Amino acid sequence: MNAVTRTNLEVIPLTKHIGAELRGLDLSKPLNEADVAAINKAWLDHIVILFRGQTLSQEDQLRLTAYFGEVGELGRPPKFFPPGFNKILPRIMMISNIRENGEPIGALPDGEMMFHHDMIHHQKPHNGTLLYSLEIPSHGGDTLFASGYAAYDTLDPVLRASLEGKRARHHYNYGSTQRGDGKGTEAFAESVHPIFRTHEQTGRKAMYVNRLMTVGIEGMPDEEAKPILEKLFDHSEKAEFIYTHKWKVGDVLLWDNRCSTHARTDFPDTERRLMLRTTVAGTVIPR
Ligand code: SIN
Repeated sequence: MNAVTRTNLEVIPLTKHIGAELRGLDLSKPLNEADVAAINKAWLDHIVILFRGQTLSQEDQLRLTAYFGEVGELGRPPKFFPPGFNKILPRIMMISNIRENGEPIGALPDGEMMFHHDMIHHQKPHNGTLLYSLEIPSHGGDTLFASGYAAYDTLDPVLRASLEGKRARHHYNYGSTQRGDGKGTEAFAESVHPIFRTHEQTGRKAMYVNRLMTVGIEGMPDEEAKPILEKLFDHSEKAEFIYTHKWKVGDVLLWDNRCSTHARTDFPDTERRLMLRTTVAGTVIPR
């Protein structure tokens, strides 16, 4: 018989469309089945879930991420570790502006970022991203989350009908990353996915284009596609669809990349910001 059947989880919505703070769990300890079911339900219901005041080892973070699906593969091992670390486990990535010998120790080091879906430029974009905050600047560096469901549901019906079944092209350039073979090449990836994505677990449709990475509409001349995409970006970034997260040390935030975009505000380059990131792997998106 399964002795553990209840959860102490409290779910507090943060805005009308997106975000909930989850209270009552210590994530440094394994969770029982009821807790795991409850946090998964909260994630699907609220798109972004927040746990405050956590102290996690890297093993704890990987165990937590695995409650939501297969843990995703991420980047290359770091060349430098932050103070206090002698290892970074595989499948954990640092997001940080801290520099050693002039080089950032982590990815996405500096300042503002436009709205985007993580990994949309890949064939199998990650379903979710989890960030655990270790160091934060005194101001700025907020992360904004916009509900793709709200954007889809409220889009002008004529525009929406004209785009149903169409796909968009996405592109992301990682800059001057060198290949291991010494030839050197720009590292970039491109993909094509439905403009409106059906979430495989909730069955709801969400806007699935973003200002940072979406570059065109399949089969449409760019001069025709550009103003349409601009309309979609402007609509999906409306203030009423957004939750703005102001970070505290010890925050754990998990967002659903299938039905939300996120952006980051600028922050002082003289102050340190350090987060550990894990992801929930995804699959090929059906047409
Ligand atoms: C990201 O866009 O994945 C990073 C967000 C952040 O650093 O707040």
